[in-house]
Amino acid sequence: MKKIIIGNWKLNLTHLEGIQLLQKINYSLQKDTEEYVEVVLAPSFTSLRSIQTVISTDKLKIKLSSQDVSRYSEGAYTGEVSANQLLKLSVDYCIVGHSERREYFHETDEIVNEKVLKLLDSEIVPIFCFGESLQNREQGNYLDYIKNQINTGLKNVRKDKVNKLVLAYEPIWAIGTGNVATIDNIIEVLEYVKVLVSEKSFFSEENILLIYGGSVSPDNASEILNTKIVNGALVGGASLDSDKFVKIINSISI
Ligand code: 13P
Repeated sequence: MKKIIIGNWKLNLTHLEGIQLLQKINYSLQKDTEEYVEVVLAPSFTSLRSIQTVISTDKLKIKLSSQDVSRYSEGAYTGEVSANQLLKLSVDYCIVGHSERREYFHETDEIVNEKVLKLLDSEIVPIFCFGESLQNREQGNYLDYIKNQINTGLKNVRKDKVNKLVLAYEPIWAIGTGNVATIDNIIEVLEYVKVLVSEKSFFSEENILLIYGGSVSPDNASEILNTKIVNGALVGGASLDSDKFVKIINSISI
């Protein structure tokens, strides 16, 4: 299966800075990268249009992701952006349920679920984020916590709607901290999640990608990305530096 590397730019870069970074990344990518890895960039809403224009005009082998979507389709919801609006911008993927949105914008598992269903209706691939806090981990109940996030967040997902679904394990204690999860932590959780979702009607080996995010860097990428169960990475800080981001992509060897 092709691996996937997603750069989550979070609240960084104007659209002009975003175009510059896109061009630097594209320039540094090896010619055959797209044969074994899907490279995805997730800029802010304000940059989606410009980035998409460069990707399509220059025929770049880079896919586009949004960082969020509204749970509503249309109407009096000031400030929201719908799945259909993203679709019309040729957005391929959308991050949903990131822990920063759960924590700072009070997104519940139920809200995340509504967003997932809206994305699937619009044929945008959800990058569904889940992961425990340090407290959950220290208390030892992190697998139950994750099970609940997944069972509620992916409720009513229908098999006929799922062409592809990215499940991103992002332990909160590893995000932006430099404390990357150990490979044993990652394998334990991804194997657990694989069994959990394999019981669901929408599951098939080919359409579920299990990935990791949290302080991924050129130093630790090779060990993580060359582990069989890990289908890719969701990269925050290091995706803002083209050298680091491309080094992470180039560390894939299987
Ligand atoms: P960092 O790579 O900066 O830890 O961020 C991870 C993340 O939140 C990606 O969505």
